[in-house]
Amino acid sequence: MAHFVKPCYPLLFVFFLSLLQSILTTQEGEALLKWKNSLAPSSFLDSWSLTNLDNLCNWTGITCNSAGSVSKINLFEKQLDGMLSEFGYTSFPNLNNLTLAYNFFSGPIPPAIENLTQLQYLDFSNNYLDGPIPFQVSHLQSLLILNLSQNALQAPNWSHFSPMPFLRILNLSHNPLSSKFPNFISNSHSLTHLSLNYNEFTGDLVSESIFANLHNLQVLSLVGNSFEGSFPPDIFKLSKLKHLSLSRNKFSGSIPNDIRLLCDLEYLYLGNNSFEGPLPPNIFKLSKLKHLFLWGNKFSGSVSNDIGLLSELETLDLRSNFFEGTLPPNLFKLSKLKILSLYENNFSGFISKDIGLLSELESLDLGSNFFEGPLPPHIFRLSKLRDLGLSDNRNLFEGSIPIGLGLLTNLMFLDLYSSNLSGYIPSEIGNLKLLVLLDLRSNQFTGPLSKIISNLTNLIFLDVSYNSLSGNIQSDLWIYNDHPTLEFINLGGNHFTGELPTTICNVTSLSVLDLSNNELSGALPNCLGNLADGLLFINLANNQFRGTVPTTFSRSCQLTYLNMDNNEFEGLLPPSLENCKHLRILDMGNNKIGGTFPSWLYVLGELEVLVLRSNKLYGTISARSIEDPFPKLRIVDLSNNQFTGHLPIQYFKNMKSTDNLYSYENDRGIYYAYDEAAVPLTVKGTEYEVRNNLHIYTIIDLSCNKFLGEIPKVTGELIWLALLNLSHNSLTGPIPSLLRNMKELQSLDLSSNQLTGAIPPQLTALTYLEVLNLSGNHLSGEIPQKGQFSTFNNDSYLGNSALCGSPLTKKCANTASPPQEVGNVDEDDAGDELTWEAILMGYGCGLICGLSSAYIVLKLGKPWWFVRYIEVLQLKLMKRYA
Ligand SMILES: *[C@@H]1O[C@H](CO)[C@@H](O)[C@H](O)[C@H]1NC(C)=O
Ligand SMILES: *[C@@H]1O[C@H](CO)[C@@H](O)[C@H](O)[C@H]1NC(C)=O
Ligand SMILES: *[C@@H]1O[C@H](CO)[C@@H](O)[C@H](O)[C@H]1NC(C)=O
Ligand SMILES: *[C@@H]1O[C@H](CO)[C@@H](O)[C@H](O)[C@H]1NC(C)=O
Ligand SMILES: *[C@@H]1O[C@H](CO)[C@@H](O)[C@H](O)[C@H]1NC(C)=O
Ligand SMILES: *[C@@H]1O[C@H](CO)[C@@H](O)[C@H](O)[C@H]1NC(C)=O
Ligand SMILES: *[C@@H]1O[C@H](CO)[C@@H](O)[C@H](O)[C@H]1NC(C)=O
Ligand SMILES: *[C@@H]1O[C@H](CO)[C@@H](O)[C@H](O)[C@H]1NC(C)=O
Ligand SMILES: *[C@@H]1O[C@H](CO)[C@@H](O)[C@H](O)[C@H]1NC(C)=O
Ligand SMILES: *[C@@H]1O[C@H](CO)[C@@H](O)[C@H](O)[C@H]1NC(C)=O
Repeated sequence: MAHFVKPCYPLLFVFFLSLLQSILTTQEGEALLKWKNSLAPSSFLDSWSLTNLDNLCNWTGITCNSAGSVSKINLFEKQLDGMLSEFGYTSFPNLNNLTLAYNFFSGPIPPAIENLTQLQYLDFSNNYLDGPIPFQVSHLQSLLILNLSQNALQAPNWSHFSPMPFLRILNLSHNPLSSKFPNFISNSHSLTHLSLNYNEFTGDLVSESIFANLHNLQVLSLVGNSFEGSFPPDIFKLSKLKHLSLSRNKFSGSIPNDIRLLCDLEYLYLGNNSFEGPLPPNIFKLSKLKHLFLWGNKFSGSVSNDIGLLSELETLDLRSNFFEGTLPPNLFKLSKLKILSLYENNFSGFISKDIGLLSELESLDLGSNFFEGPLPPHIFRLSKLRDLGLSDNRNLFEGSIPIGLGLLTNLMFLDLYSSNLSGYIPSEIGNLKLLVLLDLRSNQFTGPLSKIISNLTNLIFLDVSYNSLSGNIQSDLWIYNDHPTLEFINLGGNHFTGELPTTICNVTSLSVLDLSNNELSGALPNCLGNLADGLLFINLANNQFRGTVPTTFSRSCQLTYLNMDNNEFEGLLPPSLENCKHLRILDMGNNKIGGTFPSWLYVLGELEVLVLRSNKLYGTISARSIEDPFPKLRIVDLSNNQFTGHLPIQYFKNMKSTDNLYSYENDRGIYYAYDEAAVPLTVKGTEYEVRNNLHIYTIIDLSCNKFLGEIPKVTGELIWLALLNLSHNSLTGPIPSLLRNMKELQSLDLSSNQLTGAIPPQLTALTYLEVLNLSGNHLSGEIPQKGQFSTFNNDSYLGNSALCGSPLTKKCANTASPPQEVGNVDEDDAGDELTWEAILMGYGCGLICGLSSAYIVLKLGKPWWFVRYIEVLQLKLMKRYA
């Protein structure tokens, strides 16, 4: 019997198995459909349907094992939108690979994920998942690879996580995880790759236990967090490490000599921390090192000739440190070097002709050092160069641009900013057809710019400002044709003449146009207003433009900065400017603009600086029922017009100081940054500029008009005001004692009015007051003596015949107090230093403002967009970048 039945067992078994299998398949298919129905409809999942259940293993993104059960779900970049809550976590007993990367999944990761017990590979990266990462993820004990990067996940209580003994790759980068280093990681000892880049992790990493067990680690990447403390000593136990990135944290102290223990290291990124001291000698024993990034630290000392031992080196980035001394000769033996940046250090001496040996170089930046010239012509043999920075070296060149530069035909970035160059711009520059960025700022170039630039059809940034270039921009149509890429033109501070041709309006790619401080003339093409749909920044200040301001600013106007100060514009301010809702700085000062105060200005809610001084504006500044006018204004200068009626101070009562840096990003991700608009101040014929910290100044200047009536009490609400000038009007009545509330006031000028009454003694509470001018009024009584008032001299009070007391010679009738030692203005301080006192001495009407342009940009002159571009370039040049 037994042997009769026996043969049937396998058959039966197979039958049952396949029955089970088809039940499982149905269950898996139904689970997928249930989840699909919870998602936004997507054509990518068309094959997922009940009618197609038999074909489960051929559904989009589904892979089955040999038994026909789902083993892999790969929905990489399928534009899926929905949550993970309806996923059938208990329905896939054989699933070992789940990839949902690059979709639009949102919401939390459900704790039920722990039921995908066979998972080896889990990739949820590049979605919109949020909430704390559930500790159940760590119950997936078969996981080899876990990628949760690029989401909005938050830090859980990591102490609920179990170590993951088989995990090899853990990627939590680009989330807002803020916590200390997660402790479960320290015990996941199979890890070979760990990335916590761009989170908000904090704390130091000096504790014994953090890296001690991670002896398989090859890649450790902690870029862009807030880790602090000294170089984590346990890292030296990671003897298999190939790639170490600690960039963009707050690490400090020196690099220990033990670094040589990392003898497999190929990538060492330590940029933008606070590391200091000389480089440890053993760093040059890392013979496999390919990329060394030390930029943005405080490293010092000279670079040892042992650098030549790093024969595999492709990148050496020492930018922005305090290195000094001459370049070590063996540097030029690093024949694989592609990127060499020494920008912003204290290196000195001659550049050896051996630089020509670095034939693989693609990026070379020697800028902002103390190198001496002449530049060896061997540099022009570096034919692979794409990026050359020689800026801000006083002595590198002998006068003019070496024509050999024209040989570097692969150049995309050329930075010769502030290099003491003169002469004509050689036509050889026209050979550099790939040039994207040309920065010739702040040299002494002469002659025209014409022709040369017309060959540079890939140019995006052109900055030739602050030279002595000349020529007629109208006839030299160098720029306006065939420049589909040009975004940034700065010709400011030269001697260009002629009219702005209408063809400028064809350069629709423009974001920044700066023609200030030239000798340009004629009327502006009206189409300039249309161009403002793309333009962010127009500076035409200090030219001889005439005619009316263009009237065609459209509703899509993007302008944030418009400066036409000191030209000969006339007519009205065009009401279409009200379309430029993003305007932050509007300077029309020193023109011949007429009409009444443009009431549409109230609509510009972003306005921070409004300068209309020295024009022909007249009439009262009318009350208009606007709830919260000018919420962001911090500088207003209406001086030297014909305004009349009551002081319009109530419109400016929102004034505050701000800390905003004037910067913005365009839709191509390119940054422009300007520091605060610089304010040139004319002091006794000499121009000073307050370039820094303008943002701390809030200024109201209504001087030299025909304002009438009393100083309104609302003035006392301007508690942020640093400067108030109401001089040369026809104001009457007393000085309100409420002015004492203006605690930040540094300068108060009420001179040449018809003010009466006594000087309120409460004003002695203004502790920052450095300048006071009350002269030319009808004030009477005793001059207060306390506080800052003891520092003012009699100029402050002249022409008020009824005032008495120190510092005036006229004694008060019934004062008993002994003659006071007048607080002299400290003669020692009257040197070069720019004080408010110095600024305000000896001006008449319309003292201040007139905003000159200012792309002064990042610290020490390197523009952000440039730095950004270099980074982009480096990205292109290197496979990995962190
Ligand atoms: C899987 O689907 C493709 C088309 O989407 C089809 O060509 C192929 O024959 C199908 N395979 C099976 C086994 O059904
Ligand atoms: C899982 O799938 C991804 C994407 O198809 C693949 O790159 C990876 O090698 C797979 N991993 C495993 C462990 O099967
Ligand atoms: C995992 O599945 C089991 C069995 O279906 C269930 O009881 C448990 O709640 C699930 N886990 C979670 C965290 O939901
Ligand atoms: C997620 O990270 C893993 C491991 O680093 C990697 O293999 C995978 O390609 C990443 N996913 C994406 C979408 O880049
Ligand atoms: C982490 O995942 C991202 C994709 O989001 C990938 O680009 C990156 O290379 C991964 N990092 C590591 C160290 O694997
Ligand atoms: C995290 O969990 C541990 C263990 O349950 C607990 O002792 C600790 O207080 C928790 N920490 C926080 C910040 O909640
Ligand atoms: C370094 O990072 C800080 C922020 O931590 C930033 O302000 C600074 O500009 C960076 N330095 C450089 C040189 O990029
Ligand atoms: C670098 O040069 C600057 C300017 O000459 C100087 O102030 C600074 O002290 C120097 N730094 C070092 C570390 O030599
Ligand atoms: C501009 O390009 C043309 C054609 O490529 C070339 O003949 C001419 O010499 C170039 N001009 C300059 C100034 O380099
Ligand atoms: C400027 O654009 C206008 C209209 O798009 C076109 O007619 C004109 O030829 C262009 N001018 C130049 C110089 O390209």
